Parts: sequence; structure tokens; C-alpha cells
Amino acid sequence: MVSGMKAAGFAGMVLAAAIGTASAAEVNLYTTREPGLIRPLLDAYTARSGVTVNTVFVDKGLAERVAAEGARAKADVLMTVDVGNIIDLVDRDLAQPVRSGVLEAAVPATLRDADGRWFALSMRARVLYADKDLTDLEGISYEGLADPKWKGGLCLRSGQHPYNTALIAHHLVKHGPAKTEAWLRALKANLARKPAGGDRDVARDILADTCEIGLGNSYYVGLMRSGRGGPEQQKWGDGIKVAMPTFAGGGTHVNISGAVVAKNAPNRDEAVKLLEYLVSDEAQGLYAKADFEYPVKAGAPVDPLLSALGPLTIDAVPLVEIARNRKAASLLLDTVGFDN
Ligand SMILES: [Fe+2]
Repeated sequence: MVSGMKAAGFAGMVLAAAIGTASAAEVNLYTTREPGLIRPLLDAYTARSGVTVNTVFVDKGLAERVAAEGARAKADVLMTVDVGNIIDLVDRDLAQPVRSGVLEAAVPATLRDADGRWFALSMRARVLYADKDLTDLEGISYEGLADPKWKGGLCLRSGQHPYNTALIAHHLVKHGPAKTEAWLRALKANLARKPAGGDRDVARDILADTCEIGLGNSYYVGLMRSGRGGPEQQKWGDGIKVAMPTFAGGGTHVNISGAVVAKNAPNRDEAVKLLEYLVSDEAQGLYAKADFEYPVKAGAPVDPLLSALGPLTIDAVPLVEIARNRKAASLLLDTVGFDN
């Protein structure tokens, strides 16, 4: 009798708590993304849903921070860039599986985990920056950058930067270690200068005639050409030609920004709803505007500065395979002394 009353009282408390949550829905987002890029999306979500998004901007060590907070962590959604960082969250058991028809329909299978533990939200392609006078760049391949005709003409940032390590890991999946090592040695032989700086410096150095070609992320083209990075960068962006390289017989290398639902998410349902919003047409369009990223959802609008680069055909190798080869790629770079 007494225990029955206790149970009724407990049920009442749970109900009250549930109502309390429903009337002031909120979701806690931990993200490494720049506030200026992500805020327009979150504001739009709050305006649409009435859900408060509490955002914690974590510059570095997102996984370490969430791991340290353990079961007391308030995080519902963890959001970051680079597939390696995303998969680190899964490997450290900080994510939980999510089944959502909305997410599965919007995000292509190669850009999400088969068990729903991570989802890509936007994409960037690793594209060719080239001297404006160069012709016949259509159909250029990543493999072809090793052609001796580019000797002394190639500029890249550090091979060990995650953007390049992922590309080299992709080559490893495609061609195996022996061919990848030979490719890296040939790329190194073509370098115009030591691999250093950032992607935008490649455009700057092409304009200065230090090099003829290089690789950079697609969104930097938008950032430079839009003038958002200032007049000097606009000059670099306008001064180069951009082409969409592919792996021979395949597609272009892309990397992602993405998110997971945190393993100990206190507001799990709200976390899933936020992710579902982020792959909606509205949010995918906002991504494109805020940071010149490609939407992951087919048919979502692409910024004109990006669509001007030509159609993007994503290579079919699943991102998870690329992420698994990052370490091997990094070791191979050391073997050939790429950055030295
Ligand atoms: Fe970047």
C-alpha cells in the first residue's frame, strides 16, 4: 500500500518534470565552429521552433572536454569539422546511435555512420587553384599532380595538415601504400616551395608567380572572391583559376563538418530535432551562405560563388574509410620527408 502510494507520487513527479521540460525546451550544443558561422543557423532554429539553443564554443579539445565531464556532461549535440575529429568522438564512445528517417533521407550514406552515430552537415571540396594562363585543366586528377610537367610549380600547405592528410588517406584507400608513397615522392619533387602556410597563401603565391598550381578548400575561394576576407584576398581569389580535380575514374575529395548526439545527452529528443533542422532546406541554404560550404542535402541551394566552380561529383569512397587511413597517411608523409 505504502509502496503503491510512493509509486503514484513518483509518477506524478516525473509527469511534472516532463511538462516542465516541454514548456521550456532547450538543447545544449558544444561546437568548435566559429560563432559567426553557426549563429545564424541557430537563431533561425530558435525563431522557428521556440527551442533555446545553449551554445558552448570550444576552440580545441572538444572530445577531451566532453570525456572529462563524463556522465555529468550537459552536451546534447557535439559539432565539429573534419571527418577525423567526428570519428574520434565516436571512437571515444562520446556519441550515441540515432535512427531518423529525416537524417537518413537528407544525408547520403557515404557521409554518415551506418549506425547513426555521426552525420555530415556540410561539405568542402579539395580543389585546384591554378594560374589563370593555364589551359586544359578540365579533367585534371589528383594523381596527375605528380606529373613531372609540374616540376617546380606546385604549392601546398603542410602535408600533415588535416586537409591534406585526409586527401592522402583517400589516395591510400584508392591505390594502396606503395603507389601512394611513389605519388607523394613525385609531388614533393614538383614542389615550388616548402609545404607551409594556409590554403589562401597558395592563391597568393600563384599570383606572385612562385607556383603555377596548388590545392585549397573550396570555401576559401568563396571567402576570397566575396571580399569577406578583405581587398587583398579578393585580389588573390579573382587572380586564380579554379578547377575541380577528381581521382582518376572517380570523383572529388570532400571533407565535412558534422555532428553527433552526445552519449549522455540530457535532451536527446531535442538533439535529434536540432540535427534534423540542420539538414532542412532552410538550414542547408544558410550553411552555404554563411561559410561557402556545400550542402549535404541534394537539391539544397549552393552559393553562386561555389556553383561557378562547376559541378561537384563526390568520390564514392566512404569518409569513414578515409578517416581510418589518416594515421597511415601521416606516417607515409614522414617516410618521404614531405614537409622537410
Ligand atoms: Fe579551413
